[in-house]
Amino acid sequence: MKPDFIQLAHPQLRQLTPYEPGGYVDAQSPTRLKVHLASNENPLGCGALAQKALRTAIDNIHRYPDGDGLRLKETIAERWAIDKEHITLGAGSNEVLCLLAQAYLGSNMSAVYAQHAFLVYALAVMTAGARSIVVPAKNWGHDLRTMAQSIAADTRLVFIANPNNPTGSYLPPSAIADFVQQVPTEVIVVLDEAYHEYVPGHNGNATLDLLKSHPNLVITRSFSKLHGLAGLRVGYAFSGLAIADILNRVRQPFNVNSVGLSVAQAAIMDEQHIANSVAFNQRGMEQLCSGLHEIGVATLPSMANFIVMEIPPPYHSLTLHQALRSAGILVRRIDVYDMPQHLRVTIGNEKENKQFLHALQKIIQS
Ligand SMILES: Cc1ncc(COP(=O)(O)O)c(C=O)c1O
Repeated sequence: MKPDFIQLAHPQLRQLTPYEPGGYVDAQSPTRLKVHLASNENPLGCGALAQKALRTAIDNIHRYPDGDGLRLKETIAERWAIDKEHITLGAGSNEVLCLLAQAYLGSNMSAVYAQHAFLVYALAVMTAGARSIVVPAKNWGHDLRTMAQSIAADTRLVFIANPNNPTGSYLPPSAIADFVQQVPTEVIVVLDEAYHEYVPGHNGNATLDLLKSHPNLVITRSFSKLHGLAGLRVGYAFSGLAIADILNRVRQPFNVNSVGLSVAQAAIMDEQHIANSVAFNQRGMEQLCSGLHEIGVATLPSMANFIVMEIPPPYHSLTLHQALRSAGILVRRIDVYDMPQHLRVTIGNEKENKQFLHALQKIIQS
């Protein structure tokens, strides 16, 4: 009899369905879609400093990267006024989330997160063989009070995405501070701030300051969103020294590639590009929201670079997604986030937003 390599894998992996990305843009394909608003990427791309760093970094791709990512850590540390020893780098912040699950979860352990929360939490928890405690959302956002009450004796991690993907909901730093205060000190709170730079007033250190009094807090950030480096896969975490030490033991020796290290270092110092991207996103958000409301489509409030729209009847997720796709426009279905009557739309550039609004109007008014 042939061996069954599905059955031979860890039992928890049999239930696992792979994460489905928003859709890959093949720039060389002649049939590629006109408008790609499915993966929360920066429509401006990366900035001038990142592009310059990229050209230099390419000359050295035959070398292994700096395994400690020291320069990038120093630059992040300087930018956010924190010691570099508190930083862990990852191949995207996804890797950091998975490292946390790998390090702190196992069978007979659990993690708490909210309904409609970023899907990678469920994947990371399941892969580690642990149990998920999913707390019903309140107004499409995290219900922190119920989340605190849902922490069980075997809970080791709590995940909070702020802003959350896909809903766009946001909690102010004071609410996070209250929450961290209520959580048992041995339970790690993972505050996922992948979209942090889009939040007005993001330059402040309100959540980072909480690290000083809460060694059980981890804050993750990404270079994929506002910095426009999704293809290079660079993310990082701020944490207390003990957690940083453990994450450093579990990560692969060269988990972040050399091009990613150099380009991310340039990107984080590019204040011009950061400011441009924030302003560009705000204008695009206004354009999309007012355009959608004009054609009678309701949206959820969002603090990030995407919005969620309610699907007008008789359409539902599959039919509207397909109709938009036929018009050359790719948006994101979020049925897997328990939101079958909504679609998520990334804020694009002015032309893309217009094309999307025009196509949507034609579909729903036909
Ligand atoms: C809430 C949230 N966290 C983390 C990530 C992971 O981003 P990356 O691995 O590209 O840094 C994403 C990506 O979509 C996200 O939406």
